[in-house]
Amino acid sequence: MNVYDSEQMLARLKPLGYQPSASMEKADLIIVNTCAIREKPVQKVFSFLGRLPHLKHKNPDLIIAVGGCVAQQEGTAILKRMPHVDLVFGTHAIGRLADNVRRIALKKHRIVDIEMSPDIDSINSVAPENYNQNVSRFVTIMRGCDNYCTYCVVPYVRGREISRSPHLIVEEIRSLVNSGVREVVLLGQNVNSYGKKEGTVTFAQLLTQIAAIKDLYRIRFTTSHPADLGDDLIASFQTDAKLCHHIHLPVQSGSDKILKRMNRKYTRASYQKKIDKLRAVCPEIAITSDIIVGFPGETEHDFKETCNLLERVEYDGLFVFKYSDRPNAPASRFSEKVSEGEKQERLAAILALQERYTVKKNRALVGSEEIILVEGFSKQHHDYDHHEAAIQYSGRLSSNKIVNFVMHGDKDTALKHGEGPGLKGKLIRVKIENALAHSLKGAAV
Ligand code: 5AD
Ligand code: SF4
Repeated sequence: MNVYDSEQMLARLKPLGYQPSASMEKADLIIVNTCAIREKPVQKVFSFLGRLPHLKHKNPDLIIAVGGCVAQQEGTAILKRMPHVDLVFGTHAIGRLADNVRRIALKKHRIVDIEMSPDIDSINSVAPENYNQNVSRFVTIMRGCDNYCTYCVVPYVRGREISRSPHLIVEEIRSLVNSGVREVVLLGQNVNSYGKKEGTVTFAQLLTQIAAIKDLYRIRFTTSHPADLGDDLIASFQTDAKLCHHIHLPVQSGSDKILKRMNRKYTRASYQKKIDKLRAVCPEIAITSDIIVGFPGETEHDFKETCNLLERVEYDGLFVFKYSDRPNAPASRFSEKVSEGEKQERLAAILALQERYTVKKNRALVGSEEIILVEGFSKQHHDYDHHEAAIQYSGRLSSNKIVNFVMHGDKDTALKHGEGPGLKGKLIRVKIENALAHSLKGAAV
């Protein structure tokens, strides 16, 4: 979401003459876009900001701005703590960014703009550009969240759930496709409730509209809340050819007691039922999840239940987080806090357990031929030897797994690929030859 918001900021500053800069030393404006989801990213924001004053000594006209969820949460406190910051703008102030920057440049006063406005289409009103010629792009389709999971800060810093108008989303994706984009990742805290408040279209219907866009090859989305995942969206995995075979379905815990305290509104059994349905309509679907370890009151028994759920589901991949208290989130006032040591142990145990399944799922693909969307060169693309040349590309399977593959040929052909757009943005068939821990290796067929 922050990647998308940063692109929106960039698009709004362009009319003022700003362009992306390769180094902070040369910049006239530095925007720090922040995340408040856990304690660690918030600490990072302040340590990063703490390293900026010397740049202002070198360039007194430099404007330093802090945006995003930490800005929304801390507001004026950031100006007090960081005298070199000029602008603090919240999650709903992106539409006013250019105005605020212009005012600061003219008058040199400091501004805090953390007003929350319900007009989502004004936040997202600028047509994005494809600066980096990316094949895949994020597109925010809704903002905010009304779920109030007890550990989560999002409803407080991103406000009430609001959906963008479907026609604006379709238009935006069309313009991205015209600039070479072939895949979009639709973003929302809970895409299942897309359009419900506004009474426009359902998420499954939005997917159908987007799928009709010519030259768009793939659609992904995140995140789907397990309590709201409906049969219509499950059916889309069977009926919608452009919808990738991957779902991120954060479970957070395998213990019903903890799920209740988290206010997740589903049980372990109802969650497993949805997984079964997904696999029934789309047997090859990749399923990933988020887990929080050390939520207040999580006993060794609760944790074992989470481990057991992992063994049952066999996820393709997992993000695991140590619980941290967030301001305003009710769980910060819950008793029975789990010690840091225990959280660390549980985190390590669950990562080790998951590693088995990640590797198992990757190994199962070895020997098969799969279609990937090529995203560009992989990091080590320049290994030419004297006679035979090989270019290494990188792409993704429908399941979102990364495949690095080699294009063999003579040096001239390889160089030609290297100069031109080559295979980037194309769907190609590869044979999977090798499974590494977090990626696959293959060869173009
Ligand atoms: N502590 C730890 N992890 C959290 N997440 C959200 N809030 C917290 C918190 N207070 C995790 C959840 C969510 C992911 C984006 O971040 O697992 O799905
Ligand atoms: Fe946070 Fe829950 Fe909303 Fe996700 S669904 S953003 S975890 S409150």
